[in-house]
Amino acid sequence: EKGGWDSFMNKEIHEQPQAVADTLLGRFNLDGDLNLDEVRIDEEVFRSIDKIIVIACGTAAYAGMVAKYAIEHWVRIPVEVELAHEFRYRDPILNSRTLVIAISQSGETMDTLMALRHAREQGSRVLAICNTQGSTIPRESDAVLYTHAGPEIAVASTKAFVAQIIAAYLIGLYLAQVKGAMYRDEIRDIVDDLRAMPAKIQRVLDTQAEAVESAAQAMVDAQSFLFLGRHVGYPVAMEGALKLKEIAYTFTEGFAAGELKHGPIALVDSGEPVVVIVPPARGRNVLHSKVLSAIEEVRARGAYTIAVAEEGDEDVREYADIVFWRPQCPTLMSPLVDVIPLQLLAMDMAKLKGLDIDKPRNLAKSVTVE
Ligand code: F6R
Repeated sequence: EKGGWDSFMNKEIHEQPQAVADTLLGRFNLDGDLNLDEVRIDEEVFRSIDKIIVIACGTAAYAGMVAKYAIEHWVRIPVEVELAHEFRYRDPILNSRTLVIAISQSGETMDTLMALRHAREQGSRVLAICNTQGSTIPRESDAVLYTHAGPEIAVASTKAFVAQIIAAYLIGLYLAQVKGAMYRDEIRDIVDDLRAMPAKIQRVLDTQAEAVESAAQAMVDAQSFLFLGRHVGYPVAMEGALKLKEIAYTFTEGFAAGELKHGPIALVDSGEPVVVIVPPARGRNVLHSKVLSAIEEVRARGAYTIAVAEEGDEDVREYADIVFWRPQCPTLMSPLVDVIPLQLLAMDMAKLKGLDIDKPRNLAKSVTVE
């Protein structure tokens, strides 16, 4: 069933263009407007929503963090992202105008299930984003928007992550549409950007594997790895760090690049691998130069620097030991491509170490205990 691939993870990484395309499919009506009738929450209810809380764990929570940047920007309502296991025990503020989005690939994560039950008891509506038809989380939610990534077998989540981002973006755009928070044309432009992503992911898969492999070879013996990013690059950094710890058992930390000088830079010593997600340079993006200076800082201390940067971003070359190139795309779309080389890096490192890529030690595909 691996269809010729050496691992399910490898297969699933390569299924990401399809996972994105399939999750977009059928969510629009003939004149191009978003249509989420399948969600079966009244438009009136959506219009009354004044706050979103995302509850999820692990990779699904990072997808939620990415979506926070987009939804707050588009809809102008606050979005909180809360680890499901922390949420329930801190007396969260919830009411009928709060939309709780529970994100789960498996639909069976006990922490997320308990959190959503708590939210419903407090009178909030819960909308699940889930990849598994008929699983417990969508059954216990008020509504569900399924990701169409197909079955994910490898323990490390890959294609579910990109599909979760797409689903959460669709919810955000739908909210913007029903609340009138954006012009129709603006929404359409973003939808066009989303539709362009499968080909861009494919391009990364087709062109970046060698660079990733050589980085993995150079750094396979490293004791630890740091990942940094800003804005949507921040959750992507944490997701890259999680992948590497899960399957290559490398000690990693992912953090916001702006935090570097507030502590983590003390960790950087000669030969320390540091992966930096560099935002697009276009559109006078102020964060671009800030992230470049973060690379410069760690490099000056002897770090082995790996950058994920936009094709054509010549400034990056002089700072990075190796660059994984991302096709040009708007900042909010960049997580969908930036995560790909990080998944490949974790897989290549695990392979070089001779580890079981699909079934890392101590982990199960779904965590059905609290
Ligand atoms: C990461 C991973 C876990 C899951 C988390 C949530 O690769 O697999 O962090 O993302 O346990 O699982 P779901 O999405 O099934 O609720």
